[in-house]
Formats: sequence, structure tokens, C-alpha cells
Amino acid sequence: MIFSVAIDGPAGAGKGTIAAFISERFQLKHLDTGLLYREAARLVIENGVNVLDVVRLEEVAHKVDPHHISQELLRNENIASVASQIAVVPSLRRVLTQMMRDFANDISPDYQGVVFDGRDVGTVILPNADVKIFLLADPEVRAQRRAKELNFTFTQTVLEEIKTRDARDGNRQTAPMQIAEDAVILDTTFLDIKSVCEKAAEIVKSAMQSKDLVLKAIG
Ligand code: C5P
Repeated sequence: MIFSVAIDGPAGAGKGTIAAFISERFQLKHLDTGLLYREAARLVIENGVNVLDVVRLEEVAHKVDPHHISQELLRNENIASVASQIAVVPSLRRVLTQMMRDFANDISPDYQGVVFDGRDVGTVILPNADVKIFLLADPEVRAQRRAKELNFTFTQTVLEEIKTRDARDGNRQTAPMQIAEDAVILDTTFLDIKSVCEKAAEIVKSAMQSKDLVLKAIG
């Protein structure tokens, strides 16, 4: 079995940045699992699919191709909101989860394994991941980061959108966002992103050492 790292947490906690850093440092193939939900949301909007039509949502899920997703169109709050509305549908989740597992099992030998970031990576997608990290941060700090990243002014509306999405993702019945029992929790509220990356790298490095993988690792 390949080496795998799961990084979960709410929007704006720093998952993407940390996963990209870990990917580069340890030669692990990165998958942002949220992108698959966002791509499904784009297809839903484009094809006028009703977010309550579970049959059509499952069909849409089959059209997502994790190897060909263009990020630029997906980084906006409308897509994020639709993504979290359709992410409550079990049949759609089943299709996307299987795609993610297939992606992990089909990486090129150039990589030592995978790093996935999302909401349910450590609990559902890769429950046997070698490293599980759950990132936390105060909602207002996350909303401010999101506004900065996407180049718009921070408002109470941005904060409300983040809170609504947190509640929907955390309270849904299937694969809710939750901290895996064996996850290391990192609160990024008062930490700069560089030091969080270094902390995460230390955790990954020691797990790799215990699997005798460190010689191939750059870190
Ligand atoms: O991570 P990102 O903000 O891009 O995810 C968009 C939405 O996709 C989340 O709010 C969540 O509803 C859904 N998602 C999920 N499970 C994942 C990743 C994302 O339900 N593993």
C-alpha cells in the first residue's frame, strides 16, 4: 500500500497550501478533493440540474474527471455553495469517493504516495492513511483569508457564507466533516502558514521514517 496523508478541515483553514507544500517536499501526488465537488457543482449549474434531483446528480458525478479539472472557473463562492449543497447526497458522494480512491491507487512510480485534502479524507476516503491532520481556525480569520485570496473585501456576508458551509458540511448525515480519532489537530488561527507547513512536514517525516521511506524523501 502506498504512503498516504490526509489533511482535513473547514474552508480557509489552510488545507490547500499545506497539502501543496507536503506534496512538493515528499514527492506525494496531491489531490484537492473539494475540486471534484466544485466541478460537479459547475456541471450542475451549466446543465440546469436541480440540486434535489438525486438521480441526475449521480449522473453528473460520473462526468467528473479528476485528471482534467480546470481550477480557474471553480474558485468562487457560488460554486462553493452549490458544491456543499450537492455534497449531502450519498449517491453522488459514493461515485466521487470511488474516483478518489482509484486516483490514489493509480499514481505513477515517480511518487511515493498521495496527499489528499478535504473534509472526509481521514474518516472515509482514506481511513487507513499513514498521517491524518485536521486543521482548525477561527471562522472570522478563515473568512478574512478567503476574501484576501479571492481578492474581495471582507464583509459579514463572507463570514456568514463560511459559517453556513461549515454547518452544512459538519451536520450532514453522510461523511460529515469531523475529526478522525487518530488525527493530529493543528489550530492555524494564530500561526503563520509557513510554520504550520513546517509542523505538518515534521509529522509526515516521522511517519515516513517509521516506514523506512525517508531516504527517498527530500525533507
Ligand atoms: O474544499 P472546498 O472548499 O473546495 O470544498 C467545497 C465543498 O465540497 C465543501 O464545502 C464540501 O461541501 C464539499 N467537500 C466534501 N468532501 C470533501 C471535499 C469537499 O463534501 N472531501
